[in-house]
Amino acid sequence: MTSLSKDASDDAPTTPETPLVEVKDLKVHFPITRGVIFDRVVGFVKAVDGVDLSIPRGKTYGLVGESGCGKSTLGRALLQLTPSTGGTVTFDGTQITGIGPVKLRAMRRRMQMIFQDPLSSLDPRQNVESILIEGLAAHGIGKGRDDRRQRVAETLDAVGLPRWALSRYPHEFSGGQRQRIGIARALVLGPDLIVADEPVSALDVSIQAQVINLLEDLQDQLNLTYLVIAHDLAVVRHIADVVGVMYLGALVEEASSDELYAEPLHPYTRALMSAVPVPDPDVEDQRERILLAGDLPSPANPPKGCRFHTRCPWAQPTRCADERPALRAIGDVGTHRVACHWAEDIRSGVLKPHEVRADVVRPAGDDEIVMPDKLDLSNFDPHM
Ligand SMILES: Nc1ncnc2c1ncn2[C@@H]1O[C@H](COP(=O)(O)OP(=O)(O)OP(=O)(O)O)[C@@H](O)[C@H]1O
Ligand code: SF4
Ligand SMILES: [Mg+2]
Repeated sequence: MTSLSKDASDDAPTTPETPLVEVKDLKVHFPITRGVIFDRVVGFVKAVDGVDLSIPRGKTYGLVGESGCGKSTLGRALLQLTPSTGGTVTFDGTQITGIGPVKLRAMRRRMQMIFQDPLSSLDPRQNVESILIEGLAAHGIGKGRDDRRQRVAETLDAVGLPRWALSRYPHEFSGGQRQRIGIARALVLGPDLIVADEPVSALDVSIQAQVINLLEDLQDQLNLTYLVIAHDLAVVRHIADVVGVMYLGALVEEASSDELYAEPLHPYTRALMSAVPVPDPDVEDQRERILLAGDLPSPANPPKGCRFHTRCPWAQPTRCADERPALRAIGDVGTHRVACHWAEDIRSGVLKPHEVRADVVRPAGDDEIVMPDKLDLSNFDPHM
């Protein structure tokens, strides 16, 4: 057993069939405040608003959707780095929503995160060795300094960095190498789950494939489970077993990667897919393009009914504007889930798309509202 292997004593009494992660009706609502002297809560940004998903052990769940739809918030809430407002997250049989800070901290060793921009989450004053040893010391892993150094050296080998990297500082590395340091920092603790938030978006295309391949190799060797968040549908298709498409805080479609790319059923997924260029020029010239009207509505004031109805080219006069569709299984296999009242009729072609006029949805008087800042990662401590 290498020092990167997981400790058997950590395993909760669950079967291999139990999903490693189960999320039920998860909600994260950020308060919106107004006022100069006294802050009053005048509403909530419903960044995540009722998400159900599960991730089997050793598999990759890919999460896609427009900027601001709540992907990162969902990723952080999965690890309870951002506290949830409602719903539950169960990790390896233990419900981690609502547990105390000491127990949560112990679970966190097994749930790590990789960020889009590793530089902003790596302390520039620490060299690589001290970044990696800090995590081990914080979680009491390793029997003394030599044991920890051995573990750090093995981790460095696993992510393809040379040993001399140990004495260097984050700014001395290229973007791809820095992402390897970010992966090593997560890996050194022997996690079971890694949430990778846009892990390759900041890298050159040539380097992206290397980092994706590294993540896949590590998954094979260590039976890791991933949630990979990405804008790029090609990245998700390549790496994910199951893909979830998010719109305004909720999943609108979920299927195996092959099923989703072969036959996207939700109108939003169809629009996302139709924007991806196809290499064959004949197919590219002839295929249908779905251009979405308007911007993503505000998560502080989401449209009633189906949240996509203000932009949906298939929206119907009944149900769409007043009844929120549940994510339900379509077809015989039961693994393709879609949140659309009319999915069967859209699939069969009975319903045809129509033109949509852009509709701007904003909270009343939003110019006076103080929106809370996004999370600042410069002081991020992955061990807390
Ligand atoms: N800490 C926070 N406080 C208040 N609002 C927040 C906070 N973090 C995120 N939000 C809001 O929640 C919504 C979802 O944000 P989130 O960062 O999760 O989206 P995203 O899908 O990851 O976007 P991107 O693709 O741009 O990274 C946005 O409207 C954002 O402004
Ligand atoms: S429920 Fe209606 S508005 Fe929503 S995606 Fe389906 S057709 Fe479009
Ligand atoms: Mg994000």
